[in-house]
Amino acid sequence: MRLLFIGDVLGKPGRDVLTAELPRLKDALKLDFIVINGENLAGGFGITRSVANEMFALGVDCITTGNHWLDQREILSFINDEDRILRPCNLPPGTPGKGANLYQAKNGAHVLVINPLGRVFMEPQDDPFAAVERELNACPLGEGADAIIVDMHAEATSEKMAMGHFCDGRASMVVGSHSHVPTADAQILPGGTAFQTDAGACADYDSVIGMEKFEPLQRFTKKMSTGRFSPATGPATLCGVFVETGAKGLATRIEPVRVGGRLKRALPEL
Ligand SMILES: [Fe+2]
Ligand SMILES: [Fe+2]
Repeated sequence: MRLLFIGDVLGKPGRDVLTAELPRLKDALKLDFIVINGENLAGGFGITRSVANEMFALGVDCITTGNHWLDQREILSFINDEDRILRPCNLPPGTPGKGANLYQAKNGAHVLVINPLGRVFMEPQDDPFAAVERELNACPLGEGADAIIVDMHAEATSEKMAMGHFCDGRASMVVGSHSHVPTADAQILPGGTAFQTDAGACADYDSVIGMEKFEPLQRFTKKMSTGRFSPATGPATLCGVFVETGAKGLATRIEPVRVGGRLKRALPEL
């Protein structure tokens, strides 16, 4: 299968670069399944029904989230009926929505997506490793699922790498999100799981992790908040990770994807 995971789509610039580039990528890479991290879709903070629909109309199959999943409270009005949107899987029992789900791709294959949230330098959460273990055991690769995609939404690179190795041989791909900067460590781990510490954001990179520079600089240099964060409005770079799977759903190829905006272009050739 050909899978594309796209990192945190940040506000309108992020949505615009997906609108411009995703239909072309879908054809050029012959994609079977597309996941985006959507925790910053609505003005940089959370998800609304209308921005989620915009993404589904582009062919996105699943939207994962992270620590910003609940920034727009309206998500509570639809997350229980919208299987295509995941919230983190290691939240307290009874939290609305799902943290993992099994999808049917266009080619008929079954794709399990799991969305753990890290605990290092973040709010306290339930153990993401135990939560992922439960999901992998409930629907193993090659049995219940033809492909498994894990979006490890975390601050610490160490915790994201640890999740990669934890899932090695048991997932098709483990990709980090939340850093909003792509890492240069795309690899297939020894057991056959494709891994990249962070996919990067779909955002204007003339910014501080996608936000207009002025306010973050104020806060760093003067320890003073003078306003709110808002997405930088220049052309965004779409950042993602392309993975091809072979026998048993393990990875045979991983390639970074970067198109549009300021970052150096990277586009796999088929
Ligand atoms: Fe984010
Ligand atoms: Fe985040």
